[in-house]
Amino acid sequence: MNCLYLNKRLEIAKYIATSAGDSILKNYDKKRIVDTKSNESDFVTQFDVNVQRDIIQGIKESFPGDFFVAEEEGMDSKSFKGNVWIIDPIDGTLNFVHKLPLFCVSIAFFKDKEPLIGVIYWPSTRILLHASKNNGAFLNNKKVSVSRTNQLKDSLVTLGTSNRTAMDLMSVLHDKVQRIRMFGTAALQAAFVGAGFSEAYIGVEMNIWDIAAAYVIVKEAGGIITNWHGKAIDAFDTKKMIFSNAFIYNEISKLIKDIDIGPGY
Ligand code: IPD
Ligand code: CA
Ligand code: CA
Repeated sequence: MNCLYLNKRLEIAKYIATSAGDSILKNYDKKRIVDTKSNESDFVTQFDVNVQRDIIQGIKESFPGDFFVAEEEGMDSKSFKGNVWIIDPIDGTLNFVHKLPLFCVSIAFFKDKEPLIGVIYWPSTRILLHASKNNGAFLNNKKVSVSRTNQLKDSLVTLGTSNRTAMDLMSVLHDKVQRIRMFGTAALQAAFVGAGFSEAYIGVEMNIWDIAAAYVIVKEAGGIITNWHGKAIDAFDTKKMIFSNAFIYNEISKLIKDIDIGPGY
């Protein structure tokens, strides 16, 4: 794909993520109409559905031939062939339902399964993170990279798992790292590694839309992404992921590699 096409898509993604996030903020006090999906704490609100529709419509106006894989509806490219946008309109819906302003809009663009663009907008702070392949990662248009912290004892590590699995991780990490945090938004937590705000994010059982944009951001910021067993993975292998700066990666991955969280993992 030529550069011009990629740049145009990046600019559109940044504009649309920002407008979508700002529209959520504008309507923040409106009543959330909450429904559940796969389980009783897997929520969807009218905001998730409407914001996703607006994002897809906005992108389609500029790129009518592109495909979409998005959380709430409209999986029109399960094969991920061709030009595919991967969208999570609100990552951190549970927080959003509680009016806790820790959620973001996540938009990624992949071509033939190759991650090329990642954009994450955190409306309550107006932080916009973006990256495109081979062009680096940026926070509000200023270049960022993973932190240079090289000691686990100085590292802030965030987890994105069920409470039960978090306990397993905490049992091996609690006395080795500086602090552990769980913010309830895989996209932001993974992207925080790229921004240098934390040293590692460990997630489990995520969907492609949770981490697609963060994947590009963390890679472009110089981070390492593997599964818990130390194997390099692509963005689709979302079962057991670690996003880390390169300096603590070896140490932290040694600690978690043997954690058994049940059959199929
Ligand atoms: C969820 C959040 C959560 C992560 C879950 C995701 P949603 O996304 O990112 O932190 O642990 O795996 O499903 O439902 O808020 O978009
Ligand atoms: Ca999500
Ligand atoms: Ca979501």
